[in-house]
Amino acid sequence: MNVGVLGIGITKFGERWDQGLRELLLDAQVKSIKDANIEAKDIDALYTGNMGGGALSGQLHIGAMATENLNINKPSSRVEGACASGSLALRAGILAIESGEADIVQVNGVEKMTDVSTEQVTTMLMGAGDEELEGFNGLTFPGLYALLANAYMSKYPKLTRDLLAEVSVKNHFHGARNDYCQFRKEINIDVVKNATMVADPLTLFDCSPITDGAASIILASEAKAKELGSKVSIIGSGMGTDSLSLARRNTLTAIPAGKIAADAAYASAGIKASEVNFAEVHDCFTIAEIMAVEALGFAKEGEGYKLYKNKDTYFDGKIPINTSGGLKACGHPVGATGVKQAVEATMQLRGEAKGRQVKDAEIGVTHNVGGSGASAAVHVFKRVK
Ligand code: COA
Repeated sequence: MNVGVLGIGITKFGERWDQGLRELLLDAQVKSIKDANIEAKDIDALYTGNMGGGALSGQLHIGAMATENLNINKPSSRVEGACASGSLALRAGILAIESGEADIVQVNGVEKMTDVSTEQVTTMLMGAGDEELEGFNGLTFPGLYALLANAYMSKYPKLTRDLLAEVSVKNHFHGARNDYCQFRKEINIDVVKNATMVADPLTLFDCSPITDGAASIILASEAKAKELGSKVSIIGSGMGTDSLSLARRNTLTAIPAGKIAADAAYASAGIKASEVNFAEVHDCFTIAEIMAVEALGFAKEGEGYKLYKNKDTYFDGKIPINTSGGLKACGHPVGATGVKQAVEATMQLRGEAKGRQVKDAEIGVTHNVGGSGASAAVHVFKRVK
């Protein structure tokens, strides 16, 4: 697989009371077109990740909004896969190019979450779980991941409370060095442990926040990318799925869909986990990052804690994880997150991640999960030599 990345665009993530859903999307779209040095009319197709437009803003049909924004009439659809919507949109864009249907594709992700109450957002997000078995019985996403954290930490007690908190400390450290982030302050382990309990053992600082934001990326066929001088290629893509509910899951100490996606992405790229220089992973809650590094093959199941004990996951460490600040510090506008990860991977491979740049990065992966692990997508990015 070889699909070029021509341009990237991203809005500031956070409580964006100054912009609505449409304006956030437009801002990211215009930035990626400008960065790619193309015109809107050059785009053959658009895919936009969005989860909560209907429930939170009363706005569906985001595909049409994306083309209206650019005043073009090209094929354009919304892609929904809960918190993995952005990377499923990316995958749809890649497949459109690989099929020969399109030469240039714009992939976007957008979410506007802060205009309504936390209760409304929590109910909307719970649509990503199993409504009959989980939502109806009062479970929330922090609750689901707390169940996973408790199962994992009782089977693998070497993941201590302090090491779990390290995930958040490291992501805030990176976030403080990234100007599109929601939270730009460094914290320590005590801040995480002493914060308000949300769902035991997860405190406020183990949770990703509620966020507004949008991201955009312009993809091109191999030939077009070469002609237009793209500096980054996507060389692998994989997707995995699993049960909607935890009750029907075979394990509570791993997210198997992430491993299925990673194995498929590595196979399509023809690489091994040991060749990856950095990763943007789905840390919707701290425990999810531990499961992600294991799914990606950077540690065996139950041994992810070692990377945090040795501080290997900082931008200048052995395997930098979430140099953007991750979902925890950068924010998690759910439909935009997968595209944001692609933006950060591209910035790293173009050498533009000022203050958090991974030295000599050649291969990076993005790992994005929907729900409690019912869907996951992994993509492999490579610097063009
Ligand atoms: N980390 C750190 N600080 C946070 C935060 C987070 N995750 N979420 C909110 N804050 C801060 C706010 O900035 C605010 O600070 P201030 O008083 O200095 O302005 C304060 O905490 C209260 O914010 P508020 O918005 O009232 O928090 P809340 O209690 O309504 O929501 C959560 C907190 C954790 C419940 C909410 O962020 C949440 O549900 N997160 C999970 C989202 C989720 O499930 N996503 C899908 C994952 S699969």
